[in-house]
Amino acid sequence: MSQAIPTIVLGGTGYVAGELLRLIAGHPHFALAGVLSDSQPGERVAHAFPHLAGAYPGTAFASQAGIEQLVTGHARPAVFSAAPHGVSAALIDRILTRAEAAGTRPHVVDISADFRYSTAEAYAAVYRHAHGAPHRLREFTCAVPEHLRELATPHVAHPGCFATATLLASVPLLALGLTQGPLFIAGVTGSTGSGRKPVEGTHHPLRHSDLYSYNALVHRHIPEIAECARAASGVTAEFAFVPHSGPFARGIHVTVQAMLKAPAETAGVIGSLRDFYAHSPFVRVNETAPRVKDIVASNFAHLSAAANGRTVAVMCVADNLNKGAAGGAVQWMNRLFGLPETAGLTAPAPGWT
Ligand SMILES: NC(=O)c1ccc[n+]([C@@H]2O[C@H](COP(=O)([O-])OP(=O)(O)OC[C@H]3O[C@@H](n4cnc5c(N)ncnc54)[C@H](OP(=O)(O)O)[C@@H]3O)[C@@H](O)[C@H]2O)c1
Repeated sequence: MSQAIPTIVLGGTGYVAGELLRLIAGHPHFALAGVLSDSQPGERVAHAFPHLAGAYPGTAFASQAGIEQLVTGHARPAVFSAAPHGVSAALIDRILTRAEAAGTRPHVVDISADFRYSTAEAYAAVYRHAHGAPHRLREFTCAVPEHLRELATPHVAHPGCFATATLLASVPLLALGLTQGPLFIAGVTGSTGSGRKPVEGTHHPLRHSDLYSYNALVHRHIPEIAECARAASGVTAEFAFVPHSGPFARGIHVTVQAMLKAPAETAGVIGSLRDFYAHSPFVRVNETAPRVKDIVASNFAHLSAAANGRTVAVMCVADNLNKGAAGGAVQWMNRLFGLPETAGLTAPAPGWT
């Protein structure tokens, strides 16, 4: 591909948008055309993200009108939304409506929860407000890239961070018919999972050097995980999910436990996982327990497993802002544009953060 693909980011000053801007700055085919800030149009990107000053020394955040102009001025732009759920759907709908009127054909990857459900009713039951663009739900597919080869829609809904790690660990167990009964999930996330705005209860000073569960068995991601797992594996499974706040800023660690259908040992399960992900460049299956530090700030996910004949445990680590949000979204956008899936995403984790 000779010409850079004009790329638009929504949700400008947020953590995920910052990670998207970082990845786009190093991408061989995407070039930033505009980044929307609802709260700071006209302000310099480097003001919100000083670590990106070298990549975007003079770039300023755009307004909604500026973004709509960009979408209509390019034949086939890439649009990433890192806006909050409840906001993203209406924002995307407006942009797609303007693009349709102008005859341009953007691809959208939405990182919010707004297009993760197939019906507006299912969405409203979880999020307690009406969906912002129900007529567009059928234009989106929700999956992690590793679990779907052929896309039948022009746009993608990223399943989210906890869901990415949980699905990477669970779907092979279900698809290969290794387990029976519910899947019991313990997930630990870093504080950037709660976004940029300090809120009582999720603010980093309360979370660092502490570890605690929250929303046990009632977290809003449970139905999303179950729906994605069913679509990816063909199996309807019960997920019993207990999220935890971990004492770090970035990364997710998930442990999935279930009863085996037939006796199996550790080596056999690890072999099955390796076969399942043999063609997935971002998933590594190791014999040693996966560690958050080995994947933080990268698009890689590490898995391992243990089995004792009756029970299996699969552990997965992934970065919440990268593989679990911006990196996974770029992986999808690469595929939507027919680029190598790995383009711009192969940088290894720094290791010491
Ligand atoms: N954090 C994670 O680990 C993670 C992982 C997976 C998925 N996600 C999802 O990704 C999205 C972004 O998450 P985040 O952590 O980056 O959140 P965040 O840090 O709170 O950022 C969200 C940004 O959205 C923009 N925004 C807020 N209200 C808006 C409105 N009414 N209209 C337009 N824009 C508005 C704001 O930027 P401006 O005012 O500059 O526009 C805000 O900084 C969310 O939907 C979240 O659920 C997050």
